[in-house]
Amino acid sequence: MKFFIDTANFEEIKEAHSWGIISGVTTNPSLVAKEDVPFHDRLREITELVDGSVSAEVIALDAEGMIKEGRELAAIAPNITVKLPMTPEGLKACSVFAKEGIKTNVTLIFSANQALLAARAGATYVSPFLGRLDDIGQDGMTLVSTIADIFVHHNIKTEIIAASIRNPLHITDAALHGAHIATTPFNVLKQLFNHPLTDKGIEAFLADWEGRKSK
Ligand code: E4P
Repeated sequence: MKFFIDTANFEEIKEAHSWGIISGVTTNPSLVAKEDVPFHDRLREITELVDGSVSAEVIALDAEGMIKEGRELAAIAPNITVKLPMTPEGLKACSVFAKEGIKTNVTLIFSANQALLAARAGATYVSPFLGRLDDIGQDGMTLVSTIADIFVHHNIKTEIIAASIRNPLHITDAALHGAHIATTPFNVLKQLFNHPLTDKGIEAFLADWEGRKSK
């Protein structure tokens, strides 16, 4: 499983990218709204830093508007992925982009059938939202696992991005259940490094080094 970072904050992207673990970036209108910079400028900055897929979401609700916005976004850089909502209009736009060779990420996936529809419309990625399902007492991870089984069973090449990640356990479970990618907020990425025995081990090694006989 690969890591994307789920943020539009450039400092967070730069820091996580420096760790050598980031294969892509996802943004959404809520994440972009937190940043005090024009959307296209931020996308340009991100695409210059990160080689992999950078998802940029359309705002239009009709296919024609999505296609227009998506083409403008895709023109920013070759690694832009156009993020489209899971609606009939979104899938219309998705199938047009598939024919044009523009990568797409169909977002707001909450059922296996939605994922299958998006895949058949030619989506490069589908994004099931684990955390938001967990928030309403449903099991987000079962959804990832069901989609993964269906895609394997039918030899579907669309990649599964586990989205709406809330904690480190989501990461382990998403990897175990067949997600290709986990798009992860910066705070969760940082938590993945932590283990008390790592800290204790470093302290013990340093203490032993300081106390060595021949200095
Ligand atoms: C990423 O593609 C999604 O937009 C994001 O993970 C949603 O996360 P949230 O449910 O925490 O808003």
